[in-house]
Amino acid sequence: MSDSLVSVRDVTKTFHQRGRRVQALEHVDLDIRRGEFVSLLGPSGCGKSTLLRIIDGLHESSTATVTVNGPDAEHGPRREAVRPSPAVSALVPWRTVAQNVRFLTRLHRGAATHPVTSDDEIDGLLSAVGLSAFARAYPHELSGGMQQRASLVRAFALGAPILLMDEPFAALDEITRADMRYLLLELWGRINSTVVFVTHSVTEAAILSDRVVVMAARPGRIASEREVALARPRTPEMEDSAEFHEIVRVLRADLRAHHER
Ligand SMILES: Nc1ncnc2c1ncn2[C@@H]1O[C@H](COP(=O)(O)OP(=O)(O)OP(=O)(O)O)[C@@H](O)[C@H]1O
Ligand SMILES: [Mg+2]
Repeated sequence: MSDSLVSVRDVTKTFHQRGRRVQALEHVDLDIRRGEFVSLLGPSGCGKSTLLRIIDGLHESSTATVTVNGPDAEHGPRREAVRPSPAVSALVPWRTVAQNVRFLTRLHRGAATHPVTSDDEIDGLLSAVGLSAFARAYPHELSGGMQQRASLVRAFALGAPILLMDEPFAALDEITRADMRYLLLELWGRINSTVVFVTHSVTEAAILSDRVVVMAARPGRIASEREVALARPRTPEMEDSAEFHEIVRVLRADLRAHHER
């Protein structure tokens, strides 16, 4: 596929745990297009994090062919060519919100294709998540939810061609989590990034994604891939639509069909 940013071919990953073999992934093929929002959905232990780490270059695959068609893919290792951004993680406490955003961008210079560095751009992203008044505040002056939003901005500001997010909202309460989904989409739309997003939530995968990859466990594998035909931008009202409910129904059926008893 010529327009794919990441192409995973026949990836198998076996772990050895105290004499036991665990087949974390078996014969996984996956293409991710530039600019696409893809979710990996599946039960615990089906290899979602392992697949993300293989794309990230943190895990060697047992039989991997992973190609990342980054702008510098032919120079140096893949990890440098298309470096994903770090996960949504804690802010540095002794730097202001704006400094946090800029600091990480500087740290990863060279890895990013389009880092966001100007004050105006940073202010634009912060105001997109409702934090324009807090650019010069310190993390301890922000609520937990505001810190989450700031670190989301920081992840996008890095300008990495691909963002790999492993259940970034798992610890949030339901209302905050729902808000974060739309903020994530807002930033993704502005920055034109590519996102691979791991989640256990069927509705989260459906409202966020262009495509949902449903995985099954033992061995970890791709059970189905579903395009989500909902229009962009996505809105909370869409979650009440018949179209949305139909997508959720199909995804649940896919999960159930491959669920172990
Ligand atoms: N470093 C490791 N060493 C040994 N086994 C591992 C390691 N990492 C993962 N595994 C095993 O590989 C399988 C897939 O794990 P993985 O973490 O990718 O699942 P997951 O889909 O992300 O699950 P969860 O939804 O619970 O996060 C599991 O059986 C796990 O025990
Ligand atoms: Mg995981």
